Amino acid sequence: RDGVTRIPVVVHVVWNTADQNIADDQITSQIEVLNQDFRRTNADVTDTPSAFSALASDGRVEFFLAETAPDGSATTGIERRQTETPSFGDDDAVKSFGSGGLDAWPAADYLNIWVCPLGGGLLGYAQFPGGPSDTDGVVILHSGFGTNGTAAAPFDLGRTTTHEVGHWLNLNHIWGDDGTGCFGTDNVSDTPNQGGPNYGRPAFPHLSCDNGPDGDMFMNYMDYVDDAVMVMFSTGQVARMQACLDGPRSSIGQ
Ligand code: ARG
Ligand code: ZN
Ligand code: CA
Repeated sequence: RDGVTRIPVVVHVVWNTADQNIADDQITSQIEVLNQDFRRTNADVTDTPSAFSALASDGRVEFFLAETAPDGSATTGIERRQTETPSFGDDDAVKSFGSGGLDAWPAADYLNIWVCPLGGGLLGYAQFPGGPSDTDGVVILHSGFGTNGTAAAPFDLGRTTTHEVGHWLNLNHIWGDDGTGCFGTDNVSDTPNQGGPNYGRPAFPHLSCDNGPDGDMFMNYMDYVDDAVMVMFSTGQVARMQACLDGPRSSIGQ
């Protein structure tokens, strides 16, 4: 499709301790980050090394807090509940009221984002397109969400949500999920073959899999580097996300 797809978002805040009941400001800061990162209007895109800068592309997707609820009533696009669960895992319990969370809104019409306490060092996780609709969406640790309030360095620039929404739009990890091997692929042709994930703040270039002289595209949102280091989607990744919007997610957005 041409142009920009605008996606309605519902944020389900599931909190145990009061600090986890994040303020509306923290939520709107995350929506702003998504809109910058998926339109390549993020100021730090200029940190892309010149070897890769021609590939840093406008994703042509925008996000807004839903204004109409599934029953047709007006909404802020934010709902909240307190839970007895001290922290969740990646088992989708946060996605239903009966297991201490909040139910999804219809996945055909909304991007569901759950914000909650997560255990085990998990920053977030996503469901790829084609899965069950009652668990569709992304789950984000409250302190890895947005840029203010409980957001904590080095995951305080909203990039965990950018990364997980990349998965939700069918992007794979840039190293191909093969451990540290050179056989896995992210199914995108313009990202260099890469060994394993990068963490922290690598120095450019970081070489693996005979991918010199430019090495890994570690400044990509689909690597595991710190928020301040991930600044771009590639042209091929944008094509893959747009194919998802034309295919399994064609019902969403305008
Ligand atoms: N699913 C990944 C994790 O929990 C998210 C990594 C996001 N990385 C980041 N710099 N925000 O580890
Ligand atoms: Zn991931
Ligand atoms: Ca690999």
